[in-house]
Amino acid sequence: MEKANSEIINLITNRRSHRKYVNKKIPKDIIETIINCGRNAPFGGNPKPDCQVTEYIVIEDQKIKEQLALQYEDRQFIKDAPVIIAVLANKDNDPKYKEYILSSALAIENMILASESFGIGACVLSCFLYHEKHVEDKRISREILKLPDNIELVALLSLGYKDNGEEIPNKELRSYKETVHFNTYDNK
Ligand SMILES: Cc1cc2nc3c(=O)[nH]c(=O)nc-3n(C[C@H](O)[C@H](O)[C@H](O)COP(=O)(O)O)c2cc1C
Repeated sequence: MEKANSEIINLITNRRSHRKYVNKKIPKDIIETIINCGRNAPFGGNPKPDCQVTEYIVIEDQKIKEQLALQYEDRQFIKDAPVIIAVLANKDNDPKYKEYILSSALAIENMILASESFGIGACVLSCFLYHEKHVEDKRISREILKLPDNIELVALLSLGYKDNGEEIPNKELRSYKETVHFNTYDNK
């Protein structure tokens, strides 16, 4: 087998979501590096600025974090995250194929992995994109963030240095055999 960069493989396979953080500020240059990793993810279309759909709001203001947390009943940890990044998609930059959710999702995973490399824990929260019963929560979140109509709120990403006391639930995955098919779906 070819030799892989095992640090990268281990970072990816051992990554977990983190929802408890220590009260320590994340330096500005680290936030910038994390976002630049997001900005370098693949995006639909040509590698040109007008195809780059994903935009970011770096939220450190405690009042805004608390206002957002109100829309997320069981996700109160976001108000204790030193930083929340609201991940947005500018729909004007993808009017034809509407692949902006996928482009922004790839940016999110890049940022999660970059955060891990700094020892910073992350948790992604979907923003009620497809939840009928949360239409009002989404409207309020959009209002808090002052989003114009052409900007989709894709996700919030909470970031913070990991609290070693956090209990992380055991992870159980469906088996490789169950989830991987070869050439056609009926072939295992
Ligand atoms: C689309 C999506 C939505 C998610 N929404 C939430 C959420 O609302 N609250 C939360 O605590 N975690 C959320 N997560 C994190 C998942 O709970 C977590 O990734 C999953 O349980 C697998 O665990 P792991 O990330 O530790 O491997 C979300 C993840 C994704 C991809």
